[in-house]
Amino acid sequence: MTLMKADQKQENLSVTHGRVGWRSPSNIALVKYWGKRPIQIPANPSISLTLSTSHTDTYCDFRLKEKPSQDISITFLFEGKENVAFGQKIKKWLTTLVDQMPWLTWFEMAFESSNSFPHSAGIASSASAMSAVAMCLSDIQSQLFGEGSINLQQASNLSRLGSGSACRSVYPYAAMWGKMEGGYDDYAVPMADALDPIFHTFQDTILIIDRSPKSVSSTVGHGLMNNNVFAAPRYDQARANMIDILRAMKDGDLEKAGTIIEQEALTLHAMMMLSDYILLKPGSLAVIDAIRQVRKQEDWPLYFTIDAGPNIHLLYPEHIKDQVEVFIESELKQHCQDGQIIYDQVGAGPINLIS
Ligand code: PMV
Repeated sequence: MTLMKADQKQENLSVTHGRVGWRSPSNIALVKYWGKRPIQIPANPSISLTLSTSHTDTYCDFRLKEKPSQDISITFLFEGKENVAFGQKIKKWLTTLVDQMPWLTWFEMAFESSNSFPHSAGIASSASAMSAVAMCLSDIQSQLFGEGSINLQQASNLSRLGSGSACRSVYPYAAMWGKMEGGYDDYAVPMADALDPIFHTFQDTILIIDRSPKSVSSTVGHGLMNNNVFAAPRYDQARANMIDILRAMKDGDLEKAGTIIEQEALTLHAMMMLSDYILLKPGSLAVIDAIRQVRKQEDWPLYFTIDAGPNIHLLYPEHIKDQVEVFIESELKQHCQDGQIIYDQVGAGPINLIS
């Protein structure tokens, strides 16, 4: 149970200092969230697989301030160095949370964070970074007021306010976010049990086609949907795709799920093209072509998805891992910048680094 604001009184504190630490993974959307309204409310529901190898480790030392102030007092070290810009982003986010968590202004908080994946890998790190901070905040709150355990729904809600898609990273294997039957706009819900277990074995091999920083931030990308004449049909398509993919994933129908996954990736890029942005590179198209050819030849359940950039995520069940790896090394690696490939897979969600 999460304490209400009224119960968060200084005289109720169980501890005045401590250290928490969480490892939180990135996630990859199958039905994409693209378009939002304030405050981080998605224009359509989405579903993602929770990854494992691509993660952020975040620790936070917290100590009751000697002199009370209304300020959020944080420092933020990223990979051992002070990262002022990211610290400010976190501070801005935490300021929006003070209303529901007044204790945020009572403590000094020192964060240290590092990513498992290289900074220049072209992987969006906001989902893992923000969900790791949110897990730390929920942990601190549960320690301060003796709540016992972390409320994942609260952690998901906090993550969402930091970076929309981060709200899906707090659950094992898969999560759904956005209003629909069984889904909510404010936080994501766990989906592992609603899926055929084959999806718990899914591999996500990330082919780094180009690791330059994103040419369009996701904030700008979401905003472009506001003037996109195809926005309304796109949101309808996503809602229909959610219903269809949930059924296909429950039934273990990889072909149906894979068809929707690829359509979603291509639609995201079609939306960007309508706003005059081409994010795919020639290598991205060469990889897509090769995947479709080998799928036909070998009859493998091998599909691709793409976020708002040029890099390609290959999705497939573990039982074809060995064959797919040979294919990647011989046919796809040549299209990757410096041959860079990240072998990731679906995982069990955030890990407590302290206990
Ligand atoms: O969470 P944001 O604002 O970085 O948006 C993420 C958008 C996509 O990665 C393209 C799709 C998604 O659902 O994760």
